[in-house]
Amino acid sequence: MKRFDMLHFPAILLGFATCVLAATSTCSVDSISAILAATEGSQVLEALQISSNGSYGQAGDIAYPTNATNLPALCVTWVNVTSSPTSSYTFGLMLPNVWNARFLAVGNGGFSGGVNWQEMGVGARYGFATMSTDTGHNSTGQDMTWALGNPEAKKDWAGRSLHGSTVIAKKIVEGYYSGTALERSYYSGCSTGGRQGIRSAQDYPEDFDGILAGAPAWWSTRQQLWQLKVGAINLPEDSPVYIPPATFSVISDAVLQQCDGSDGIADGIIMDPMKCNLRLEKLLCTPNRATGDSSPCLTKPQLQTLQQLYLPLIEFDADVHKLEYLYPNFGLGSEMQMPASFGQDNAPSLYGTDYAAKYVFDDAAWDWRTNFSYATFVEADRRNPGDVNAVRHDLSAFHARGGKLLTYHGYADGLIPPGASRLLYEETYAANAGSELDDFYRLFFVPGMQHCGGSVYDAPWFFGGSGQGTTLTDLAGQDVWPLPGFGDGRHDALVALMEWVEKGQAPESIVATKFRNDTVGMGVVRQRPICKYPGQAHYSGSGDIHNATNWACKSA
Ligand SMILES: *[C@@H]1O[C@H](CO)[C@@H](O)[C@H](O)[C@H]1NC(C)=O
Ligand SMILES: *[C@@H]1O[C@H](CO)[C@@H](O)[C@H](O)[C@H]1NC(C)=O
Ligand SMILES: *[C@@H]1O[C@H](CO)[C@@H](O)[C@H](O)[C@H]1NC(C)=O
Ligand SMILES: *[C@@H]1O[C@H](CO)[C@@H](O)[C@H](O)[C@H]1NC(C)=O
Ligand SMILES: *[C@@H]1O[C@H](CO)[C@@H](O)[C@H](O)[C@H]1NC(C)=O
Ligand SMILES: *[C@@H]1O[C@H](CO)[C@@H](O)[C@H](O)[C@H]1NC(C)=O
Ligand SMILES: *[C@@H]1O[C@H](CO)[C@@H](O)[C@H](O)[C@H]1NC(C)=O
Repeated sequence: MKRFDMLHFPAILLGFATCVLAATSTCSVDSISAILAATEGSQVLEALQISSNGSYGQAGDIAYPTNATNLPALCVTWVNVTSSPTSSYTFGLMLPNVWNARFLAVGNGGFSGGVNWQEMGVGARYGFATMSTDTGHNSTGQDMTWALGNPEAKKDWAGRSLHGSTVIAKKIVEGYYSGTALERSYYSGCSTGGRQGIRSAQDYPEDFDGILAGAPAWWSTRQQLWQLKVGAINLPEDSPVYIPPATFSVISDAVLQQCDGSDGIADGIIMDPMKCNLRLEKLLCTPNRATGDSSPCLTKPQLQTLQQLYLPLIEFDADVHKLEYLYPNFGLGSEMQMPASFGQDNAPSLYGTDYAAKYVFDDAAWDWRTNFSYATFVEADRRNPGDVNAVRHDLSAFHARGGKLLTYHGYADGLIPPGASRLLYEETYAANAGSELDDFYRLFFVPGMQHCGGSVYDAPWFFGGSGQGTTLTDLAGQDVWPLPGFGDGRHDALVALMEWVEKGQAPESIVATKFRNDTVGMGVVRQRPICKYPGQAHYSGSGDIHNATNWACKSA
C-alpha cells in the first residue's frame, strides 16, 4: 500500500521535493515497537501525535528544559537503547506529517545529557525526520559526576549514542514512512555537537550524506585541559595578575578600536584577527598618563596575563628536549566571551577541573592546584576516555561515499578558540594528501561571531547553524527559523549543505544576517557573506556596507 503522495510542496525548502503523509500511519508505541521488533536492546517509551503549532518537551530534561514550540503536525517518539550491561541511552525522534524524505540528527552541547527537543523542533520545521540523543546520561552541561568510574557512559557520550541512535532512528523512519524511500541523511551540531559531527565523518562515514559542524570541540582532551589552563593563568583572584571579568569588556573595546580598521572598514567587525597588529602596550597604565585621563588600563602583571591568554599553548617536553604545541589560544576579538571560559570561586572552569578529575582520572580528589601539569595533557591523550577525540583525520571513506562536511567557527568564540578549527583543517589536509579538500570539506570563519552564535558589535551571525534557530525569536517570542526569505541555500548553511550534497552546488559563501535585537520583525541590521577558508569578504568600495551584495569573497 502506498501511503504517500510525492508533490512539490510550497514549503520553505523550495526546489526540494516534499512528501505528504497519508493518515494511515499510526503514531503509537505499539506500531513503532513493531518496526523495531528485530532491533535488540531498544524499547519505545513514548509515541505521541502533535498537532500543527503544538509543542513538546519533557519536564525531566534538565539539560534542555525548553520545549519545542511552533511545531508542524508530527509524531514524536522516545526510544531507550541498552548499550552495555551497565549503560543505556535514549533518543527522541520527530516524524513530520509533511516530510521532506530526509533524516536529520541534531547534536548536543557541553557535557549535557538530555534530548535536545527544542533543536529537533527546528529540524522538523524544515520537514526533516529529526533525531536527538540524550548521549547516555542525565545532567546539565558542566556537571561530570555521571562520568566518574563509568567507562561505558563515557563511550556513549563520546560517540556510541549518536551512531547507535542514528542507525535505529533511520529504521523507524523507513518503517514509519514505508512506501517512500529515505533519500538523504544529515547532521547538524555545534561545539560538542561539532565534535560529534567530525567523529561521524571520521568513524561512521555511512551515517550521514552531509554534516554541518560548528565550532567543533574535536580534540576533546586538549580542549578541556586548555580551559583548565586559561582559567589557571588568570588566577589567583587576590594576586596582581588577576583580571576581573568586567575588565574584559574594556579590553574588548580597546582591541576592537585597534583592529577594526585593519580590514579597511571600521564597522565593529574584525574581518581577520590574524591581520591585526595589536599593540597591547597601549593598554598599560603608565605613570605619565595625562592627569584626568580616566580611561581604563591594565597593570603590568595583568598585561602579562592577557599576553599569555593570546599565546598558543606550548609546553617544554623535557624527555625529548622539544617544545610541544598543545592547542591554540584565544583569538583577537574574543575578549568579551573569555570570562565564560574561566571558572568561579578562585578555580578554573568545571569544563576543565571536573573533566580532569571525573572524566579522565576517575578521581574526585584530583586537584588542579597540585596535579595539573604538562603530564596531564599527555596522560589525558593516552587515556582518551570513551575514545572521545575526533583525531582519525583520514576522511577518505566519507569522501568516497560522496559525503560533504561543512564546518564553521566564530572568530570571536571565547569558549573554543577558532584556531582549533584551523588546526583541524591542517590535520585533515595532512591526512588526506592528494585529495582536494574543497571537494568534500569546507571551513567558514564567521567574523565577529561568538561561540556557535551571537555577536557583541552587531556582526551578522544568523545562517541556520546549530542552535541559531532556537535563539532567534519573533515578536511573540517563538523560535521561527527557517524564515521565509532566509531559508534558501544563500542564507542558510543547512540548505547550502543540501544543495552541495544533492545538486553538486558547493558553497563558496553564505550570507549571515543580524536582526535587530535578535528578533525577527524588528528588521535586519546588516548582512554579510561568510567565506570559504582561506577566503575573506572584501567590500566592493561602493554602496551600503550593511548590504551583503556589496561584499565579495577573495582569497588573501
Ligand atoms: C501557535 O501557538 C501559540 C502558543 O500557543 C499561539 O500564541 C499562536 O497564536 C499560535 N499560532 C497559530 C498560527 O495558531
Ligand atoms: C514541556 O512539555 C511537557 C509535555 O510535553 C510538559 O510536561 C512541560 O510542562 C512543558 N514544559 C514547559 C516549560 O512548558
Ligand atoms: C534527571 O535528573 C533529575 C534530577 O537531577 C530528575 O529530576 C529528572 O527526572 C531526570 N531526568 C530523566 C530523564 O531521568
Ligand atoms: C533504559 O533501559 C535501561 C536498561 O538497559 C534502564 O536501566 C533505564 O532505566 C531505561 N531508561 C529509561 C528512561 O527508561
Ligand atoms: C595527584 O596528586 C596526588 C598528590 O600529589 C598524587 O598522589 C596522585 O597520584 C595524583 N594523581 C594523578 C592522577 O596524577
Ligand atoms: C533593543 O536593544 C537595544 C540595545 O540592545 C535596547 O536598548 C532596546 O531597548 C531594545 N529594544 C527592544 C524593543 O527590546
Ligand atoms: C542590497 O543591494 C541590492 C543591490 O543594490 C538591492 O537589490 C537590495 O534591495 C539591497 N538590500 C537591502 C536589504 O537593502
